[in-house]
Amino acid sequence: MRKSLYRHTAAWVLGGTAIALAGCAALPGGTADERWADYKNWTKITEGKVQTGDPTGFIGNVHKGPNGYRDVYVNDIGAAMLASEGPYNFPAGTVVVKEQYDNQAAWESGKGAGVTVSLKMTASDDLSKDNWIWAESYTSTAGESAFCSGCHSIAAKTDYVFTNGAFLAAH
Ligand code: HEC
Repeated sequence: MRKSLYRHTAAWVLGGTAIALAGCAALPGGTADERWADYKNWTKITEGKVQTGDPTGFIGNVHKGPNGYRDVYVNDIGAAMLASEGPYNFPAGTVVVKEQYDNQAAWESGKGAGVTVSLKMTASDDLSKDNWIWAESYTSTAGESAFCSGCHSIAAKTDYVFTNGAFLAAH
């Protein structure tokens, strides 16, 4: 609430020009859960790798579909496991953020990204969807989601994460 008031004031002071929030332009707007609010400072596992099309064959219309451009970030807890060649079983506290853009131009501009988030809550020897919760946008609340976990179950053997070191080595 206070933040949005501040933003209105800042925009008003600067006459509503585009420079008003230039410093924050890289992040989607709004207040996010602190577990992923600063994801832009994490390891970008897709750095130097253009992610578009449908390499798994399972993208459907989610994550902006096959014409979308995507990047994946991981926090320090999960970074070594995600970059490894597997086998994959992420530590509790791992958070993976996927940024998705409508097209190449949007991706290059870095603006207008949709954000989806996977959080591993519980460590276990068994790879189970019950160890994960999900958020559908930068500002939404994470929780169980049959929609997210249902499709990510295709990647159950790699602990519900598609984009890992082995995947990026192959794509
Ligand atoms: C119809 C299938 C499908 C659904 C539904 C889906 N995803 Fe994904 N997701 C994928 C695929 C496929 C990839 C990776 C490959 C790619 O980008 O082409 C992916 C990648 C991701 C990534 C990057 C890490 C990884 O696993 O590769 C995150 C984070 C993610 N999804 C979160 C979510 C969240 C949160 C939801 C629910 C709001 C969701 N996904 C729903 C198919 C799906």
